[in-house]
Amino acid sequence: MPESTANTAKLAKFYGDLSPTVETVREALTIAGTDPDHARARDLYERDLDCHNLGMFRMVEFAANVAAEYSAPDAGDLLLDVGCGVGGPSRYFADRFGCSVIGIDVVPVRTEVAQELATMTGMGDRVSYRVADATALDFDDASFAQVWMLDVSIHIRDKRTLFREIARVLRPGGLLVMHEQAGPLPRAMAPVMREAPYIAPSLPQLIRYIEDAGLQMLTWRDTTSIAVDYFLGVRDVLLGNSEPRGSNVKTGIPLLDGYLETFTERNGRTGVLVARRT
Ligand SMILES: C[S@@+](CC[C@H](N)C(=O)[O-])C[C@H]1O[C@@H](n2cnc3c(N)ncnc32)[C@H](O)[C@@H]1O
Repeated sequence: MPESTANTAKLAKFYGDLSPTVETVREALTIAGTDPDHARARDLYERDLDCHNLGMFRMVEFAANVAAEYSAPDAGDLLLDVGCGVGGPSRYFADRFGCSVIGIDVVPVRTEVAQELATMTGMGDRVSYRVADATALDFDDASFAQVWMLDVSIHIRDKRTLFREIARVLRPGGLLVMHEQAGPLPRAMAPVMREAPYIAPSLPQLIRYIEDAGLQMLTWRDTTSIAVDYFLGVRDVLLGNSEPRGSNVKTGIPLLDGYLETFTERNGRTGVLVARRT
């Protein structure tokens, strides 16, 4: 069953406000000394211009290193990036592994910007984006060698359907690679929970959802220090202590402080989780 219209509307407002536009990305490239008309995908993702998660490109690269320990995608493989945002991670996977990637996101402006940035960086033949809800995927069974999902499941209430859909579209032996924040979420997270749906099970409960769907848990690698470094960096930018790195530093201090308190004082945890389709 697709996520509720109210949840989707809240997400559209939240991520619509936070999303970079193609223009802000081009401006950031120009400021960094790169001609936007000749930019490569790496000029964007290595500068955090088109990644948007709890650790930005540093976390994406870490997740790819962990996945590669189990099974790196081959050049002929097709990956699904669930909740692809504006597409930085998927273009990095295509660059690094030589594979093709389809990205889906429930917020139309995200896939529009993702597609335009893919065209701008000459990646349009290997990555593509479309609007879709992760709990109602319009793909045949066993369509993908791997499914990636970076900081997305926390927004989705119906985790059983989410992981059942992921297991269905993964081919047997294929990997689910995800990044997530484990719950329960403390009161410190209230400012961000007012802005969008945040439903975070504990890590054991999350693993139960995943295994009940027919996936075998392989590993969880803690990334909390990456998330903390990222939020401290954004805070410094907002306080005027350092120059912005990315074009999407639009989060407010109360939201940042909620995350920082959660991860530094309340045992909040983030990590990369890898599971295999049995
Ligand atoms: C924190 S962002 C992560 C974006 C991207 N994975 C990245 O790492 O840059 C979460 C994304 O999940 C998307 N999302 C949330 N619920 C979704 C759903 N039910 N189906 C598809 N995408 C969803 C949001 O619109 C948003 O773009």
